Amino acid sequence: MDSVQRVMVLPQEPIGQIHPYLHGHFAEHLGELVYPGIYVSPESPIPNTNGLRNDVIEALRPLNIPVLRWPGGCFADTYNWRDGIGPRERRPMRVNVHWGMAEEPNSFGTHEFMAFCRAIGADPYFAGNLGSDSPAELRDWVEYCNFAGKSTLAEERRTNGAGQPFNVQLWGIGNENWGCGGNMSPEEYAAAFARYRTYVHNYPGTQVEAIACGPNGYDWQWTRRFFEYMTNHHTSCRLNQVQGFAAHYYCGTAGTATKYTESQWLELLSKAYAMEGIVTGHRRIMDEYDPARRRKLIMDEWGTWHPVEQDKPQGGLYQQNSIRDACVAALTLDVFHNHADKVYMANIAQLINVLQALLLVEEDRCIQTPTYHVFNLYQAHKGAQAVRFLTAAETVSNGEAAAEHCKSCYIDKQPFALQAVHGSASIHDDMLCVTVVNTHPTQPVELDLELYQGRLNEVETVTLAANDIHAHNTFEHPLAVQPSEPKRVQARGAHLRVSLPAGSVTRMRGRLG
Ligand code: AHR
Repeated sequence: MDSVQRVMVLPQEPIGQIHPYLHGHFAEHLGELVYPGIYVSPESPIPNTNGLRNDVIEALRPLNIPVLRWPGGCFADTYNWRDGIGPRERRPMRVNVHWGMAEEPNSFGTHEFMAFCRAIGADPYFAGNLGSDSPAELRDWVEYCNFAGKSTLAEERRTNGAGQPFNVQLWGIGNENWGCGGNMSPEEYAAAFARYRTYVHNYPGTQVEAIACGPNGYDWQWTRRFFEYMTNHHTSCRLNQVQGFAAHYYCGTAGTATKYTESQWLELLSKAYAMEGIVTGHRRIMDEYDPARRRKLIMDEWGTWHPVEQDKPQGGLYQQNSIRDACVAALTLDVFHNHADKVYMANIAQLINVLQALLLVEEDRCIQTPTYHVFNLYQAHKGAQAVRFLTAAETVSNGEAAAEHCKSCYIDKQPFALQAVHGSASIHDDMLCVTVVNTHPTQPVELDLELYQGRLNEVETVTLAANDIHAHNTFEHPLAVQPSEPKRVQARGAHLRVSLPAGSVTRMRGRLG
């Protein structure tokens, strides 16, 4: 591969505003996420505030997490919200049937979740139960959360400590209803969605955004048949009842979380880049039914899914997280930015101790993963105007390296090849932010970034890289993978030269002049 690779940024070609929700997160009652990742008993020796871990709140606050989805996942369609309110000692013990038959004490419920969201500054996104509960339960949960006036449910919320309504805007109407959420066909789900959605009311002061269950990965038929039904066969609940449509895509694994070859590195990044095909395919189908693009595409769950660490229970989905996962996160966020005109929210799975986590906690220790650092670096894009980013970098994997399932991730059956450099760009005021991933595990790149008909001044770069392709942070070595100190770089006219270490993520920021 040539050491010099070219990319171009076109400030004259705006795409759309990067909604902060594109950097969203997900917390399910699963494994060690909620207990003890977020919540420990208030009497625990682990420092906490009413049960919420202080170290976790402290670590998450600087990230300005925009939105947090809860309580599942598959758990959501088994959850009755009433289990999680009222005096804790009276809350029922349930079995978490999807996740290792674990005990679910319900100590963390609606009020605790809202307290956590407030502590970290995130908007709440509730996943309602459509699979195993009634529309009346969903109706009551919304009223309990959002009604400021006089009603028995609003009074109950006040008795439980919340005088003011929670004003929860984002409501998912079921989760994976093609699978763990009820094994429905798209038509069955569309009919159920229409019914449940009818009872998700706007109480004064809160306009609900209802999010329909979208497809699994590249299941184009789910998207087509859902929209077909909502457009042509349903009389009472039309498309205007759907504010968002939420797909899930996990790029999975290649090797394990920390043991993989160079070709498995490329395989995983190719599968991650398949997100480009999945977003392109679903938005194209949605455009057929919703040409004005009022329905937002959401990527409700995404990330890596490695084999569970050896000393951890299978049902807990605990995995380590390396510099390779950081590249997956960066590559994927860049895809979302490049589709900012259609993709509105995306929630990586999951926040703590589960799948591609940002934090790992154990007893009274809490460490940041390489994925955490990517979200931190990428914050500069949030709320900015995405502009066109083009890569002319060489192909490092033509998609063959990706597993068979990924080839279907492209609606035209033409894989989008993985190139040596991918990225995205955005403008906020007069500041340009460009983020790039050197996708190759062993080859450094000399990046030649051209700013089309423009100039950049006062450029600063920060890089997340490691000497070992398996590098990751542990409780013993929590700082093994860390972003570099900011470095000043001089642009020459419209060109900027930056060295990208192998397998790395770099953010460049400069003033447009
Ligand atoms: O994130 C883990 C699980 O993956 C979720 O519960 C489910 O929605 C998906 O299959």
